[in-house]
Amino acid sequence: MATQNAAKDLPGVAITADVASLTEAVQQALEAIQAAMFEVVDSEITVLRDASRHILEAGGKRIRPRLALLSFAAAGGVDMTPVIPVAAAIELMHTASVVHDDINDHGVVRRGRPSVNAIWGRTFALLTGDYLFAKVYELMAPYKDLNMILAEASVALVEGETLQAAAVKENRLSREVYYDIISRKTAALFRAPARLGAELAGGTRAHVNALAEFGYRIGLAFQIVDDILDLTGTTETIGKSAGLDLAQGKGFAAVTSPDEVTSDDPMETIKERVLKGTAVEEARVMARSLVASAIAELDVLPDSPAKDALIELANQVIDREF
Ligand code: IPE
Ligand code: IPE
Ligand code: MG
Ligand code: MG
Repeated sequence: MATQNAAKDLPGVAITADVASLTEAVQQALEAIQAAMFEVVDSEITVLRDASRHILEAGGKRIRPRLALLSFAAAGGVDMTPVIPVAAAIELMHTASVVHDDINDHGVVRRGRPSVNAIWGRTFALLTGDYLFAKVYELMAPYKDLNMILAEASVALVEGETLQAAAVKENRLSREVYYDIISRKTAALFRAPARLGAELAGGTRAHVNALAEFGYRIGLAFQIVDDILDLTGTTETIGKSAGLDLAQGKGFAAVTSPDEVTSDDPMETIKERVLKGTAVEEARVMARSLVASAIAELDVLPDSPAKDALIELANQVIDREF
């Protein structure tokens, strides 16, 4: 309940009609979200507190909370205060998922720092992820029906990760399965913040659904670009262990790798062949088309600085380098 009080104590982060006030309100709200997350992970158990703080302090892009705040504003919301605990819950769920993901993928760098498993080991990383997931319940407790939206996203996330592991193990990672995986493991946790923000604003059905679909589509594009960056970036530029997808038979490269690649080829050779082939360009085209279709979903919304900011956020999903 402490976080509820923290949100109540905040000066109202209200937006008016102009771009500068929207940018400022989003910035203030993001700071309040960071504070809310910190407050809620204050466990008496040192490892849980330290490991949670370690991963939260590292920051990250905060794209999901931003999506919740901007969807709220685009759907007609004014004072962002009620979005803060919900956006904190969303970001904690995402953070839990990356802590667990680094155990599964043997990632040793995350958000430009050693990953939780790299510092504390697998057992404590598993428990830290569990702890962060459990804290989502606490933050969402007052939100009744809205809980279902985030619950669905967390189920999808676990299903997506499991489907991916099973498909890799059984060597059946087709293009179709790839899209099923990314839809569940990533796009669901982009749809949820957009829907939650719009619902909290009391948006119309048409506006809520359009924003949810917008979130879903940019989520698909986001994961495709993430898989491209895993191949084209370095651990330094992307701030997390690079090259893991290819090495572990995950990501779109596993779907499209050239036929001439044999399993005894060294990883560098496989990577060179994938980079020389058409897979990366095809993936970029797909990501761009998903972002364009996401932006088209926003046509039903009235023009506003928040709508413009959502379009900018969608474009950042494809233009990003990390
Ligand atoms: C990483 O998400 C996990 C994926 C879904 C690809 P982000 O790229 O949003 O991670 P942070 O929060 O910015 O570190
Ligand atoms: C992203 O999986 C989805 C989740 C974290 C659940 P990845 O394994 O592709 O993400 P990164 O590249 O490690 O962030
Ligand atoms: Mg993974
Ligand atoms: Mg990973």
